[in-house]
Amino acid sequence: MNVEKGYVDEPVPAEVKDLKEEIIKLKKEKGAVIMGHYYQKGEIQDVSDYIGDSLALARIAAETDARIIVMCGVHFMGETAKILCPDKKVLVPDLNAGCSLADSCPAEDFDTFIKAHPGHTVISYVNTTARVKALTDIVVTSGNARKIVESLPADEKIIFGPDRNLGEYINSVTGRQMVLWNGACHVHERFSIEKIKELKEQHPNAHILVHPECRKPLHLIADKVGSTAVLLKYAIESPVKEFIVATESGILHEMRLKCPEKTFIPAPPDDNVCGCNECSYMKLNTLQKLYNCLRFEQPEVVVPDELIESARRPIERMLAMS
Ligand code: 13P
Repeated sequence: MNVEKGYVDEPVPAEVKDLKEEIIKLKKEKGAVIMGHYYQKGEIQDVSDYIGDSLALARIAAETDARIIVMCGVHFMGETAKILCPDKKVLVPDLNAGCSLADSCPAEDFDTFIKAHPGHTVISYVNTTARVKALTDIVVTSGNARKIVESLPADEKIIFGPDRNLGEYINSVTGRQMVLWNGACHVHERFSIEKIKELKEQHPNAHILVHPECRKPLHLIADKVGSTAVLLKYAIESPVKEFIVATESGILHEMRLKCPEKTFIPAPPDDNVCGCNECSYMKLNTLQKLYNCLRFEQPEVVVPDELIESARRPIERMLAMS
């Protein structure tokens, strides 16, 4: 079995006729739970036991009694699950599934930044490596960042990393002046405000849904700013029938399943003709890689023991506070 490429590179046996059925069978045999982020391909969401935003996936990982967790998301999500459940086997179908935002915050540089701001509480977004989490006081996701920041004393000095857009958004709604690390997500940064405004002219009744990792001008024209789970909830509960969705287009799969009578229009990036904005890392996980991952129980997420200890504290603090 060859896993050198970061995923199990094996053909599917000829006798396997239906990959989805086979994945569901294997997962039961192995005592595995499949978790899928909303940005995964629709076919992966379809075979997942749980789909959710990064906060929900962390919560479920902390509570599951499954022997194996297959995290269909990106590498930091697998790491978070491993940190919370060090005794379990945590698999990600393709370990090459990285995150541009996590990459925008190398641990050594973040450490220097922290040392340059003594006396500050360090809050890090969950889209970070385990090494950055180990330097952090409290981890947050886009689903709980506001609540956690607001729960701290008004005069508390805070460093927020790595997403400058989320940090700027939290500063604007809380009135805080957190010191921001200058990182960003390459998918959320490339939405075109002009094209979104044009879409709004064509669909004047549509509501604009925006993930806080998008740039500030998008926050200002949004009807709702929130995490993937918050945007989904808004779409379900709103009487509005049309939505322009400015986050990774994988979320549209669940939105359309939950609201078949409503119309969801993916907000376009500024460099694309097809109109969708996809995270190429998220889309590295495929049904074939998921099948092989369950079959061979590889590739496994490994986090050194000493890092698990120090990275777990700020994640547990988040879970307790949210
Ligand atoms: P959510 O926490 O909204 O799921 O976002 C995760 C993420 O990776 C956004 O880029």
